[in-house]
Amino acid sequence: MTVRVGMVGGGQLARMTYQAGIPLGLTLRVLAADAEDSAGLIGADVELGSPDDPPAMRRFAAGCDVVTFDHELVAPASLTALNDDGVVLRPHPEALRYAQDKRHQRERFAAAGLPVPAHRSVVAGAEIEAFAAEHGWPVVVKAVSGGYDGRGVWVVGDQSQGERLAGEAAGHGVELLAEEHVTLDAELAVQIARRPGGELVVYPAVESVQTDGICHEVLAPAPVPAATAAEAVELGTRIAELTDAVGIIAVELFLSDGKILVNEVATRPHNSGHYSIDGCTTSQFENHLRAVLDWPLGATDLLAPAVAMANVLGGPQSVEQRDVLPRVLADPDARVHLYGKEPRPGRKLGHVTVCGDDLDDVRARAQRAAALLAEAAQEVHA
Ligand SMILES: Nc1ncnc2c1ncn2[C@@H]1O[C@H](COP(=O)(O)OP(=O)(O)O)[C@@H](O)[C@H]1O
Ligand SMILES: [Mg+2]
Repeated sequence: MTVRVGMVGGGQLARMTYQAGIPLGLTLRVLAADAEDSAGLIGADVELGSPDDPPAMRRFAAGCDVVTFDHELVAPASLTALNDDGVVLRPHPEALRYAQDKRHQRERFAAAGLPVPAHRSVVAGAEIEAFAAEHGWPVVVKAVSGGYDGRGVWVVGDQSQGERLAGEAAGHGVELLAEEHVTLDAELAVQIARRPGGELVVYPAVESVQTDGICHEVLAPAPVPAATAAEAVELGTRIAELTDAVGIIAVELFLSDGKILVNEVATRPHNSGHYSIDGCTTSQFENHLRAVLDWPLGATDLLAPAVAMANVLGGPQSVEQRDVLPRVLADPDARVHLYGKEPRPGRKLGHVTVCGDDLDDVRARAQRAAALLAEAAQEVHA
């Protein structure tokens, strides 16, 4: 009988996971919010519904050998319902919680002696100010849960901004965490694929270039000293073990003044690992599937000395990507991945990866290809 993997969420991560499952003969069933979601468009077995609705989750999970996630915004009641039904959840809800709750994550990582930025739970504006008195302005304030792509992260410059943010957050029932504003030399990331018994493989440390909280580019291997890359890999491995997560674990790190701090963890395939589809022996998506099925993991070696990935981000206007695609494909090394999504400003619509010998060269080519596709996304239809 076909092995059936269920994935909660029908976005681009589910779409690329589906793609990775085809050669292995897997069927991917997804719980999507909308029939037009990325994974729904390619003929994945789709159940429409919300992960916050336990009956929808039960309908979706029926007949799945294992259930995994393309995002972490899942109500605990739904997870409990599936757990009670005996559904195999990978990662387990306890591991998923690290990705769902930034306060839980900071507290656990700090208690384990991992290097994390100074942080504190805050409710009132005065508490943000008290934190600033110790750590200086600006203060980075984050929603404890529900944020992604920088939504839910605010750089607060002074007391009045802090008061305003705290007031708005209280009005919306959003819990806040204050953090010291770290001076970033670079942001790094590491992906780990881990099986239920603890066997794991680690991908090379990469640099993730972020603007306004959104990943724009990923460079592999990270252009940092070997000792820094080794430390990143070691921290990632420790975090995979500490969280006891199964599947892909992506660890976002800050490099500041030569030192590494842990930013956050995602317990699923991650934008920082998209380069692995074209740049590594086994992609993060295939290794996610192998890990959640408790199958042997594939090699994570880089296939080229330099790999660059650039995201195609939506601009202010609507898209006609097919008109520029031939120009993009004129670069024979440009590996294009489009997600079939309706363009919206800042939305991740696709990515391009280029592998080669020289990082500056592949980076420039990936940027150019992504910019062409993004410009297309900005063409006016008037
Ligand atoms: N304490 C901090 N100091 C400086 N920059 C930060 C800090 N926390 C987050 N950032 C910036 O904001 C981005 C998004 O923050 P993150 O906590 O990863 O939220 P998200 O869940 O949206 O990815 C980070 O990648 C980084 O660029
Ligand atoms: Mg992040």
